[in-house]
Parts: sequence; C-alpha cells; structure tokens
Amino acid sequence: MTPTYPPEPFRIKMVEPIRLPAPAERRAALAAAGYNLFALKAEDIFIDLLTDSGTGAMSQHQWAAMMEGDESYAGARSYIRLKAAVQDIFGFKHFFPTHQGRAAENILSAALVRPGNSIPSNMHFDTTDANIRARGGRPVNLVIDEASDPASLHPFKGNLDLAKLQAFIEKTGPENIPFGLITVTNNAGGGQPVSMANIHAVADLYHAHGIPFYIDAARYAENAYFIKLREPGYAEKSTLEIAREMFSVADGFCMSAKKDAIVNIGGLLATNDDAVAERLRNELILREGFVSYGGLAGRDLDAMAVGLYEGLDESYLAYRLSQTAYLAACLKELGVPMIEPPGGHAIYIDAGAILPHIPHGEFPGQSLAVEMYYEGAIRACEIGSVMFAHPDPESGAMIYPRLELVRLAIPRRVYTQSHFDYLAECIGRIVQRADSLKGYRFTYAPELLRHFTARFEPL
Ligand code: F0G
Repeated sequence: MTPTYPPEPFRIKMVEPIRLPAPAERRAALAAAGYNLFALKAEDIFIDLLTDSGTGAMSQHQWAAMMEGDESYAGARSYIRLKAAVQDIFGFKHFFPTHQGRAAENILSAALVRPGNSIPSNMHFDTTDANIRARGGRPVNLVIDEASDPASLHPFKGNLDLAKLQAFIEKTGPENIPFGLITVTNNAGGGQPVSMANIHAVADLYHAHGIPFYIDAARYAENAYFIKLREPGYAEKSTLEIAREMFSVADGFCMSAKKDAIVNIGGLLATNDDAVAERLRNELILREGFVSYGGLAGRDLDAMAVGLYEGLDESYLAYRLSQTAYLAACLKELGVPMIEPPGGHAIYIDAGAILPHIPHGEFPGQSLAVEMYYEGAIRACEIGSVMFAHPDPESGAMIYPRLELVRLAIPRRVYTQSHFDYLAECIGRIVQRADSLKGYRFTYAPELLRHFTARFEPL
C-alpha cells in the first residue's frame, strides 16, 4: 500500500533556501568536523533532522505576538500572558520561565538533588541524566521491557514499569529519592508515549512513599494526542483536557518549550511546593535571571504563550503524527528496521540491526549517521553508544546501551512530503550497501555529554 501523506494544515508564507552540497564538499566537511555531525555548518546540510528542538517554524500569530513583547525587567505584560497560559494548561501554584529545558533541570537538580540520591524515571533524557549526575545524584531508568524490543507494538512503550519502581523504592529507600520523574513522550526510548493510566499509577506509587512527582513535559502535547488516539476513554476528550489531567496528578514539571510550544528558545519549571519554589526562585535569579523573564526576552515569553496553544491544536497534532508515520511507512517499504510503532517527533532507525558487523564499541549508529550525510547531506543524530556508553563505576567495564539507534527528528511545520521522499530514497540506498560501512573510534571525547563535542576517525 502506498503510504499517504496528510495535507499540511497551513500554507507557506516565508521560505528559507537550502542547498545540496556536491559529494566532494560533503566529504571535506565531514573530515573537517571530525565526523561529528554537531560540528558541521548548517549551511552544508540539505535536510537537518538533528533535532526537533527549537527548529520549528513559528506561526504568523507567534511572530505577531513577539512584536508585543514587553521588555520590562520585572512584571512584564509578556510574563503575565505566559503565566495565564501556563496556569490554564498546566495549573501549578508556582511557575518560572527558563531559557530552555536543561536550565529548568539544572535549577531543579540544584534545589533537590544531594550526593548519593537517586532519581527514577521511565528514561531520562541525556541533559536530565547529566544534570542529576552533576549534582552527585544517580539517574535510574525503569521503563517497561517492551521499550527495548524494537518490534513490540505496545501502544505505550514509554510507560514506567510499576513493579520495577516499587522494588527500586524499597531497595533504595524513599528518603534517598528527592523526587521521581517521568518523561513524556519518552525521547531516549524512541519518542514513545506514556499512557494516562501509567501516569496516574506512577503518581500514586511515588506519593504512597512520600516522593514528589515531576514530569519532564518536553513533548506533552504529542503524548496527549497519543492518549486520545490510543487509550480507551479519551477519544472524545480534547488534548487540552487530557493535558490538564496529566498534570493534575504531578507536583511539578520541567519542560523544554523548544518542542511542543514550537518556539526557538524557552523553557518552563513549575511546582506546587512553597518551600521548593523558594529554592527554585533563588537559584533562578542566581543563574538565569529575574523570576518574570528567566533568561529570556519578553518577546520570547509571548511566542511561548501563543505556541503552547498551537502545540495542542488537534488539526496540527493529527498532521504532525501522520507526517512521522508517513516517513516510517516509506522507510519500512524499503526494509529499514526501526523502533515500532513510530514515535511522535522522530523515527529511530535500528542501526545495530542494519550494521550487525559493527560492534557497540565501534559505534554503528555513528557510522550510519555519517553515511546519511555522505549520501544525501542529511543530518541525523546517533542515540547509542556514543551518547550513552559509560564505564561501570565499580568494575570499570564499559556498559553499552541495548539499542544502537539513529534518530531522524522532525522539526515542526518545516519539511514537506518531497523532503520525506528524498530522505527515504537516500536511506534505502544506504541499506543496500550496509555491508560496506565501517566503524569509528574516538580521537577526543569529553567526560559528560560527549556526543556534542567528541571527534572521531573512521576505522
Ligand atoms: N527533556 C527532553 C525529553 C528532551 O528531549 C530535551 C531536549 C530536554 C529535556 C532538554 O531541553 O534542549 O531545551 O535544554 N531534547 C533535544 C533533542 C535537545 O534533540 O531531543 P533543552
């Protein structure tokens, strides 16, 4: 069956030219970048799927709202408009703007994590993981087992495993767990959604042990739409109602607004706890800026206030999730293995399955991502051993992630059907010659978040 592409619920009013560099230019650019795609010039990229973060196209309403930005240092109208939107959708007692998601994570970790603490989640995103570790804490991933089976069609593969969480809390002791998290959708595990039933059950379990429950809400609107599509009892509810229900059982949340609020910069942090809010406020003022702007310009707050509602719009979400499903269907027709079902914001290609001859330590995901740039000037992101392999603290032996993935993250409202067809053709050609691909090794790797600045050489 030919995959179908949903017509975009918008038309294009402004264009940003892109250019396909010649093959020799691509080879030179890669060598100069140390085979790290983060080090490439954006100008040398034809289709950029490195991230869906901050790369979306803002609407005319968001641009118009930016013109009304109030740049007052304190109490700006922009802040008051954002506050109203945040209270309407998420409903927490205290909220703080931050410049992006990891700033919110840093402030939350500074306020709550002490050395030796553990913070469970379904799966932590890499910046959350690193912010907890930077405070001496231990991030722990307790996602259901189906998450590591790329073929499992579980509708909510992002769910946190309740039995694992119960056992973990008993073993660790609730006094060593300053808060518990859940990431919606589960980016590190394939952009997979978490069910409403699971959110309720996780909240109940944390609360039964007196552990505050926070949500990493980067892609909460996509998660809400998955709940509407897949979870019995939610088909007739609006995504706004679903979102409100999700957050009603949490004690707070942190969020990168660069995803589902469709802005180029921004983040949010909120809590119901007065004492925690005081610590967050002090930390925010120290690190980010005053409480009514949190490191952003007033106009950024206005773009966020409008974008939060656009991100929840159901015609947009229907288009968004079908666009991802279209790319997945095209790739599947070409025999490209991936995490199924496709996530909301991205396709996660199973590089380990395409390149079984390249061991974890030689980075099969990196090899595939580099080849995609050679083939079509496409930029994707390795989510495998480059990002997550780390030495065991006791034995020193390397611990590798179970899956070696390459993520094609889809910027919001940016690419069209012909871009997706081009992508699928390029990746299909690579799969045909997969045997000829080689591994890579580090020539430089920093200790934390090494995928951003590492350098490689081909083996
Ligand atoms: N949490 C999740 C689930 C994320 O996906 C991200 C960012 C963050 C937190 C941090 O937010 O970038 O605003 O500081 N994810 C981007 C990505 C970078 O490409 O997936 P940030």
